[in-house]
Amino acid sequence: MSGHKPEKDDVTGVDTTGHEWDGIRELDNPLPRWWLWVFYASIVIAVIYWILMPAWPGISGYTHGVLGASDRTNVARAMDQLHAQRGKGAEVLKTASLEQIERDPDLQAYALAVGQSVFGDNCATCHGPGGAGGKGYPNLRDDIWIWGGTLEDIHHTLTVGVRSGDPNARMSQMPAFGRDGLLQQSQIDDLTEYVVQLSGRKANAVAASRAAPVFAEQCAVCHGPAGKGDPKVGAPDLTDNDWLYGAEPADIAGQIYNGRGGVMPAWGPRLSPETVKALAVYIHANAGGQDK
Ligand code: HEC
Ligand code: HEC
Repeated sequence: MSGHKPEKDDVTGVDTTGHEWDGIRELDNPLPRWWLWVFYASIVIAVIYWILMPAWPGISGYTHGVLGASDRTNVARAMDQLHAQRGKGAEVLKTASLEQIERDPDLQAYALAVGQSVFGDNCATCHGPGGAGGKGYPNLRDDIWIWGGTLEDIHHTLTVGVRSGDPNARMSQMPAFGRDGLLQQSQIDDLTEYVVQLSGRKANAVAASRAAPVFAEQCAVCHGPAGKGDPKVGAPDLTDNDWLYGAEPADIAGQIYNGRGGVMPAWGPRLSPETVKALAVYIHANAGGQDK
């Protein structure tokens, strides 16, 4: 680079700065107006920020800012509040019965808060963030229950789990009618039409009537003669058109063929008794649980 006198550039008619690199000379264009305004505005915002918030390091500390903001004190304050609240609430949850928790508005509010946070950490992976479920994972927000929807039912399901290996687990096993050769594929096809019809949808009536005696013989033990299900053996209601494994005929045929049984861990051994209570109250309240 060499120093030159500023002069007019022939092509653009703009003055040059006098800087030159290997014959390339720099034009002295003014900065765009919008750019300057953004630049000035950033300076003003920065100065305001320095005044309000912690900003400049010093030798033995830093400028604290007039708002006195500090994440450290915020966290400490929030923790103190949480401990004060938890301490009291957790003590009462230990001794209160499920009904007492649900009837006392303060206690219930506390249980709901605990339940919601524990749900996010332990249950959302399978049941979805809001508990809406997915294929194979029941929706916990509606009032349709595989194993019963009273506060006690839910509490028991949570404590022992489903096919969890716990000695008291909720247990039952639908046979794999197709895989284990208990029924012919044609019988399974007919039964599929029968189940579709049970759920109030259009189905092949001839096939369904062929399946009726098979259903009475093979399926009614668990699902009931009218297909209304039985929470004692975790057999879903087949008439409500709400499906654990999917509504499509292929899904239904697949379940009759394979006899899948969902597994849920037992939470009794994993969570404290008061946490399981709080979860039961949370599920019962938020999911429109049954009273009887
Ligand atoms: C590993 C996956 C998994 C996790 C984690 C899990 N669940 Fe489940 N849960 C299931 C499955 C699968 C079923 C359905 C079992 C069946 O088919 O009968 C179920 C069933 C339930 C039921 C019974 C629903 C009914 O209709 O009767 C409740 C209540 C429940 N879960 C609540 C919870 C809560 C609360 C948590 C967290 C503490 C949780 N689950 C964590 C998989 C899971
Ligand atoms: C021993 C009891 C038992 C018998 C017998 C039985 N089921 Fe089931 N069935 C169940 C259970 C338990 C489930 C739920 C499995 C789960 O929760 O993972 C189920 C689920 C189903 C489902 C899926 C429901 C849904 O919501 O997705 C269909 C469809 C079904 N059974 C049809 C039949 C048919 C048809 C027969 C007769 C051929 C039959 N079942 C016999 C216990 C039984």
